[in-house]
Amino acid sequence: MPKYQKKGKKELLYELLNDTDRKSVFSIISDIFILTLYHKSFPKHYFSRYLFKKGKTNIKDYFSNNFLYYKLKPFFNEHSVRDVVENKLYFNFYYSQFNIALPKVLMYNHRKMFVKGNVNFEITSAAEFKKQLEDIFEQNPSYNSLFIKRTYGSYGGDQVFKITPPQLATDHELIDKLYSEVIKSGFLFQETVKQHPELDKLNPSCINTIRFDTFIDKEGKVEIMSAYLRMSTSNKHVDNIASGGCLVSIGLQSGKLKKEGYPGFSANGIVVHTFHPVTKTVFEGYSIPYFSEAKEMVLRAASLMPGLRLVGWDMAISESGPVLIEGNSDYNMIGNDLAEGGFLTNATFRKMLMEANLLRVPL
Ligand SMILES: Nc1ncnc2c1ncn2[C@@H]1O[C@H](COP(=O)(O)OP(=O)(O)OP(=O)(O)O)[C@@H](O)[C@H]1O
Ligand SMILES: [Mg+2]
Repeated sequence: MPKYQKKGKKELLYELLNDTDRKSVFSIISDIFILTLYHKSFPKHYFSRYLFKKGKTNIKDYFSNNFLYYKLKPFFNEHSVRDVVENKLYFNFYYSQFNIALPKVLMYNHRKMFVKGNVNFEITSAAEFKKQLEDIFEQNPSYNSLFIKRTYGSYGGDQVFKITPPQLATDHELIDKLYSEVIKSGFLFQETVKQHPELDKLNPSCINTIRFDTFIDKEGKVEIMSAYLRMSTSNKHVDNIASGGCLVSIGLQSGKLKKEGYPGFSANGIVVHTFHPVTKTVFEGYSIPYFSEAKEMVLRAASLMPGLRLVGWDMAISESGPVLIEGNSDYNMIGNDLAEGGFLTNATFRKMLMEANLLRVPL
């Protein structure tokens, strides 16, 4: 899947100068001056966090690009158990024993060796590969598509493919490409999760997942740190921001969306959405179905792997309740910084930084 295109610096500057919703040039320069002194380096994050917009006054609550958050992963997450979430296959095997709803894995492979049910076999041509996929659709007539995802080492929706029976029947080029990609490493073949119709009203092109992050504190108490919803703003089958999605913060108590949707400054410039650009559904006040059940599920998932104290989870909401898509032991916190209006306003985030001795350095 092609990554989204970044805009050029000149184009971004032009947009910024013409933005009717920005602070005055004087205020922007003054903010940048203050933050440069505060962080002891040029605050590039000023733009990616949209701090040039009117009303963004708490500029020191956002962390800068110097923030050492790569230190958090080894501090809180035991290296030897990371693969429970980082490897999508192990993730599925591990969590399926706890009666947590997960997308069904129908087949997986390591290079040319495939496993389906409890049978393993070798595939040596695109034609054989196609036949296996056709068999899956034949055995599961209710499926309109399949998800094919890299088992480990993918990022941001990059190696996530969706295939439909008509594509399988007619798009030989696509099958050839998919086959040559799949046999390079390990992939899993998963049922497509059908999301709750309410979420289709927001964006029907993909499942719009909730990104929860959880923290287990020193005393072993499991907490949800924050939650935001991600969705594609075009017709993509993945919701990742890196693949052109947008994120909207969710009130943890209310389960309702906040006002603004951030699509990413470097690719989309000054645009901040208050409604979905295709469906026109307004974000503010939109109520996420099964939100309490989703919170309960993510807290349980976090508590079942105590070796991972800091995890970012992707959760879908189906017609019958939440479905856990994946966990990330090393997730990008820029989304949280944006969604929370400065992650440093978040008490759990601060508690975590304090334990890791990171609250004393300028962020
Ligand atoms: N089984 C599925 N059914 C429907 N949509 C799915 C399914 N699996 C993934 N998706 C969509 O694709 C997106 C990306 O999938 P996933 O989170 O598994 O991979 P990723 O984010 O690329 O992985 P990583 O975090 O390892 O980089 C999901 O957020 C969701 O929108
Ligand atoms: Mg993901």
